[in-house]
Amino acid sequence: MDNINSVLFNAKKYLINNSINSANIDSEILLSSVLKKSKNHLLLNSSIKIDEDKIDTFNKLVERRKKQEPIAYILKQKDFWKSTFYVDRNVLIPRPDTEILIEEILYNYSKNQKLSVLDIGTGSGCIIISILKDRPNFKGTAIDVCKNALNVAKYNAKIHQLENRIKFYKSSVDNFFKGKYDLVISNPPYINKFDLKYLERDVIGFEPSLALEGGIDGFTVLKKVIKKSSRLLKIGGKLVLEIGFDQKLKVIKLLKKEKYFVNKIAKDYGNRDRCVICTKL
Ligand SMILES: C[S@@+](CC[C@H](N)C(=O)[O-])C[C@H]1O[C@@H](n2cnc3c(N)ncnc32)[C@H](O)[C@@H]1O
Repeated sequence: MDNINSVLFNAKKYLINNSINSANIDSEILLSSVLKKSKNHLLLNSSIKIDEDKIDTFNKLVERRKKQEPIAYILKQKDFWKSTFYVDRNVLIPRPDTEILIEEILYNYSKNQKLSVLDIGTGSGCIIISILKDRPNFKGTAIDVCKNALNVAKYNAKIHQLENRIKFYKSSVDNFFKGKYDLVISNPPYINKFDLKYLERDVIGFEPSLALEGGIDGFTVLKKVIKKSSRLLKIGGKLVLEIGFDQKLKVIKLLKKEKYFVNKIAKDYGNRDRCVICTKL
């Protein structure tokens, strides 16, 4: 029977030989999930023997990682903001950059405010769920054009005991006319068709293109979100948008045309302009 040390050593070597850059950390994450022990436990107990069936399960996961499947899809979970979300291949894996939207919103609204919030393109539901968990008087509406994505968001709302505070609609932003909101949030697909092929294989090979691709210029869905939110927002309500690092100027132009006042452009952890906060005039 092999021990933790040798099983990990073989997996790391195998992944490195197959050009997986994060071979070390990936092997440790996968083994700790199979053994249901922390990574520290693995490192401190490296001579402990592992059962053959567990090694088999682990090797199957390593094989999937070798084919560049993201760890989040293999383990069916991803940490985002303060919570863990269920994810599968129907939804974008929540990104740390999107946490900037959450930070900005929580900074702008206090604990006891009552707000009606719409999340356009909810995917896993990570944005609306994170905000509603921290703002108990907010009520949410979440839409997505993809039925399977919406089912993931509903499941996450249930896990986080928010199913009674969020209404879900399968709808494209084009066809959604319901309600008036104090706050609209969206992380729409904004990568242009031509740049898609330059994304890492982990992303382009596994994540849904509906969540990534924003048409020929990257603005197809963004434009719709800006235009439609202008109808769905109350006067004085805010729109908070995630955008691509090179989309700021065009987005500001579109916003001004639709009578928004741009309050702030927040930067991501790489110092790029990625989050727009604006007010419906
Ligand atoms: C970039 S993902 C964001 C997912 C999630 N909000 C997040 O931040 O992780 C964009 C989402 O928008 C949805 N979507 C794409 N086109 C849409 C449209 N026209 N109307 C509504 N949702 C759309 C996709 O299905 C996808 O779930």
